[in-house]
Amino acid sequence: MSAKTSPLITTDHPATPRRNGRCSRREFLRSAALGLTAFAAAPLLCGHAAHAATTGGKPMLIVYFSHSGNTRRLAACIQRLTGGDMAQITPLTPYPQEYDAVVEMAKQEQRRNVRPPIAPLQPDPTAYDTLFIGYPNWWGTFPMPVATFLESFPVGNRTLIPFCTHEGSRLGKSEQDLRRFCPQARLLKGFEVRGSRVDDAEPSVKAWLAELGLI
Ligand SMILES: Cc1cc2nc3c(=O)[nH]c(=O)nc-3n(C[C@H](O)[C@H](O)[C@H](O)COP(=O)(O)O)c2cc1C
Repeated sequence: MSAKTSPLITTDHPATPRRNGRCSRREFLRSAALGLTAFAAAPLLCGHAAHAATTGGKPMLIVYFSHSGNTRRLAACIQRLTGGDMAQITPLTPYPQEYDAVVEMAKQEQRRNVRPPIAPLQPDPTAYDTLFIGYPNWWGTFPMPVATFLESFPVGNRTLIPFCTHEGSRLGKSEQDLRRFCPQARLLKGFEVRGSRVDDAEPSVKAWLAELGLI
């Protein structure tokens, strides 16, 4: 990985909501100067029976974007523990698998504040009042396909619960950015774990869900 393309070098990237034609002043995101490790590929270890995840009798939706699988495995862990439904954010144009290429592409997308087109989510998120929203930390915040999703349906005063995988930057500025994208939403405490430790995260995931009163 070249220093030129490393997301962990401090840099400037906007993630500016476009809803209602209002663009708030650009905030420039900083990435932490921490080393990346290789992506983990171990199988999911969260194996508990599903708990019926409902809020006021309505099911919850676990929405996630994942490029190399870590966030997908964390989403699956949450699904198994809560019994919520799952929906993946899928860009219509897949990101490159080659690391330097995706890093550079993500950097350019953030700089240009683009909204990569995504496939319609299944199931339809408008049917849910409470949504988990999961993503890898890309350049200090959520990837741009998540921005596309957040602007694709009326989030309104729905409840959003962030979760994130990363390699050192934790949630970065993603919670602040979620707040800016969804100013009316009820934003609950987020969860973060290193991508390389997702498969050991079940106890922490359980503690977090219990603290939120969801299991
Ligand atoms: C384009 C790109 C940018 C990244 N930027 C950061 C970053 O700023 N901070 C960090 O800790 N990790 C960063 N990472 C590492 C990922 O957040 C981490 O590997 C994550 O677990 C990947 O999740 P996934 O397997 O669901 O795609 C970046 C990875 C990529 C591919």
